[in-house]
Amino acid sequence: MMNICVIGAGHVGLITAACFADLGHKVWCVDNDAKRIANLKKGIMPFYEPGLEQLTASGVQKKHLIYTTSIKEAVKKSEVVFIAVGTPMKENGEADLVAVENVVISIGEAINEYKLIVEKSTVPVETGTWIRKTISEIVHRRDPKIKFDVASNPEFLREGTAIADFLKPDRIVVGVESKRAEQILRQLYEPFKAPMVVTNIHSSEIIKHASNSFLSLKISFINMIADLCEKKDADIIKVAEGMGLDPRIGPRFFNAGIGFGGFCFPKDLAAFIHIGDKAGVNFALLREVERINEARKYQFIRMIKDVLWNLTDKKLGVFGLSFKANTDDMRYSPAADVIELLKSEGAHVTAYDPEAMELAKTMITGIKYAKSPYDVVKGADALLILTEWDQFAELDYSRIAKLLKKPVVFDGRNLLDPVVMKKQGFQYYSIGRAPVNGV
Ligand code: UDX
Repeated sequence: MMNICVIGAGHVGLITAACFADLGHKVWCVDNDAKRIANLKKGIMPFYEPGLEQLTASGVQKKHLIYTTSIKEAVKKSEVVFIAVGTPMKENGEADLVAVENVVISIGEAINEYKLIVEKSTVPVETGTWIRKTISEIVHRRDPKIKFDVASNPEFLREGTAIADFLKPDRIVVGVESKRAEQILRQLYEPFKAPMVVTNIHSSEIIKHASNSFLSLKISFINMIADLCEKKDADIIKVAEGMGLDPRIGPRFFNAGIGFGGFCFPKDLAAFIHIGDKAGVNFALLREVERINEARKYQFIRMIKDVLWNLTDKKLGVFGLSFKANTDDMRYSPAADVIELLKSEGAHVTAYDPEAMELAKTMITGIKYAKSPYDVVKGADALLILTEWDQFAELDYSRIAKLLKKPVVFDGRNLLDPVVMKKQGFQYYSIGRAPVNGV
């Protein structure tokens, strides 16, 4: 069992810490946000993630998981130090690495003996080189004999299924510069029994950005095809199924809708485009992915206006605020963008989300938040589905049809079945499928 330190108690960091603790390692989970650490000590999670509360509680109880604000203390006690702090997007799309640099300086100041420093945050290619240089300058001024290694080990977990993704990964990617670093990471990940790609740090860094960009590309591709389906009386669900059964293409990440959001895809895509530009490589393909994604929200508004005409003073009910189901994360949520556009058109919006309402209230003002999905639709001109929560599919739509002023649904996530909606008398519009009119 190893002594591990994870710096940054965000989505990647906290899950990494909780899962390694669950596997029996002793893990120090560090964050400079004192309130976050105080809350974690009381068992209060900083975000919603299924299963995380129980997993962290068990780690704390077994004394495998320790929360602290002190990088110094945590680094001193650990052999492996994971950096999992945020790398937000700057105005120009570039990744902001100030938090990484600050952490790296603190690590350099704390190192007393050999450590393996692992970047787990999504970072631009060559960040590892900067990390090594920064730590080396600080450490070797103090004691030239102290040794350390830097490695890259990107994390591919998705919010909402983060624990299962972490513990049962499709692959482990490791970028190393020394045998010693490779051995430590092989030992750490051995119990996962997953295929392991061991390469140099630059390749590992690129794997993460390229993977997220490729998945974004897949989504924009299917959204583009959905547009064609709408014009040619075709069904995007069947088209995606027919394509996805080819194992070279695959069925996943092929759901058309109002576009991708969240704190990873938009940010990583923009950062990767920036990296391409800086390196003098033409990344126009990815710029197009971004453009298609941005256009999704405007097209959705167009679809609504083509049915309802003016939106001024129309009452619209919204199901879903988070950027996808099973999370309360509102960052870069397409639902939030759509609501802002509806507001700018003068519509009166009432929204409901199973988990994201508290956060949404701090971000989206000028709308009403309902206590239940049924309250959303009372007297509304139409219902909009913006996040694909399962529970929205399980509602009583005959009741919803009666509560709405007119039974009109715009499904931005293809959550519902057009045949069923037609039977229940709805005018039902979705993405890349022919509209149905059961009235
Ligand atoms: C993503 C990556 O999947 C993960 O590997 C990485 O570590 C972090 O970024 P996450 O941001 O949690 O994970 O969400 P994900 O499930 O990938 O969805 C991203 C966005 O794409 C969501 O807005 C989702 O609604 C959208 N999406 C996803 C689609 O529009 N269609 C799809 O078929 C899949």
